[in-house]
Amino acid sequence: MEEFCKSLPKVELHAHINGSVSEVTIQKLLAKKRNFDQSFSFKKGSTATLKECFEKFRLIHQLTDNAKSVYQVTYDVIHEFHEDNVKYLELRSTPRAVQDTGMSKESYVESVLRAIRDCKDLDIKVRLLLAIDRRNGVQVGWETLKLAQKFQESHRDLIAGIDLSGDPNVGDARDYLPIFREAKKSGLKLALHLCEVPAPEETMDMLNLPPDRIGHGTCLHREAGGNQEFVDTVLKHNTPLELCLTSNLIGQTVPNLDNHQFKFWYEKKHPCIICTDDKGVFSTSLSEEYQLAASTFDLKQCDLWNLSEQSINYAFCEENVKEKLRDKFKVYKSKIEEQFNIKL
Ligand code: IMP
Ligand code: ZN
Repeated sequence: MEEFCKSLPKVELHAHINGSVSEVTIQKLLAKKRNFDQSFSFKKGSTATLKECFEKFRLIHQLTDNAKSVYQVTYDVIHEFHEDNVKYLELRSTPRAVQDTGMSKESYVESVLRAIRDCKDLDIKVRLLLAIDRRNGVQVGWETLKLAQKFQESHRDLIAGIDLSGDPNVGDARDYLPIFREAKKSGLKLALHLCEVPAPEETMDMLNLPPDRIGHGTCLHREAGGNQEFVDTVLKHNTPLELCLTSNLIGQTVPNLDNHQFKFWYEKKHPCIICTDDKGVFSTSLSEEYQLAASTFDLKQCDLWNLSEQSINYAFCEENVKEKLRDKFKVYKSKIEEQFNIKL
């Protein structure tokens, strides 16, 4: 299965840039910094609290505190996904300004976009979502939207949408609703982290937006602290779920993989997308996530193929890009069938 998952052409729709930084890139960045003796990721099989996960992001942010490092990280992350046979990648990142280094939120986004452009000859299409961190408040949220609208004008083909992320225990997502409604009007898609932890107050209004995709949705169903109304609303809108097994396991938002929400939604034939979340911090890759899904939920090779191919439907790119991807997948399908002597 390992070989198959690696060979499988894949679609990654939920990857935070700074959480995706590999150990190799960390070493490059560390070479430019002094007095840094920290661990930037969790070893396979380890567990942590959400607070400890967010502490890792804070550490990484100290390394990516200038436009050059942001470029380097984005460039490397795209190459790594490409090496893992990812054919379409949606990155998301929180624009950050650092006064000491002269990095503004604009130059942050410019660095990310430049890195994406510089990878255009690779066989991987990349799009960007600007992230609103719920720890930073509504005012900053509006600034992020304005930034997205500004860059939409100059880079319409690259800026795909808006994400809501950050510590799910902080703030109330409903405060950001006017921003998301405005974003929709501008043609920006919405990928929102929702119900990562039980959130009975905010969830219903958020689901009814509705977002174009939900990140995690761990606690939507009753057994995980949600309720049937949440489930029915997600089903009614057919909102795809971005599911990140290792991330949820290490962050302990699920007790174990057998109880991961993937099973609940997959059995309902609801759109499920396997994603990495933070491949660097959680020491994983998209191939490994597919493998983990296969071994945990007893999926066959054809099930994995279908999951991967169907993810194209939920991407935030133009229809013609999706068509090209589907054509490409057809070619890969026959190659893989031959390579593994199977019928998908
Ligand atoms: P960045 O936006 O590129 O700086 O990536 C790191 C940021 O992504 C973190 O500071 C969080 O705001 C966000 N993030 C990464 N993983 C998660 C998650 O599982 N839940 C919520 N937010 C996350
Ligand atoms: Zn995430």
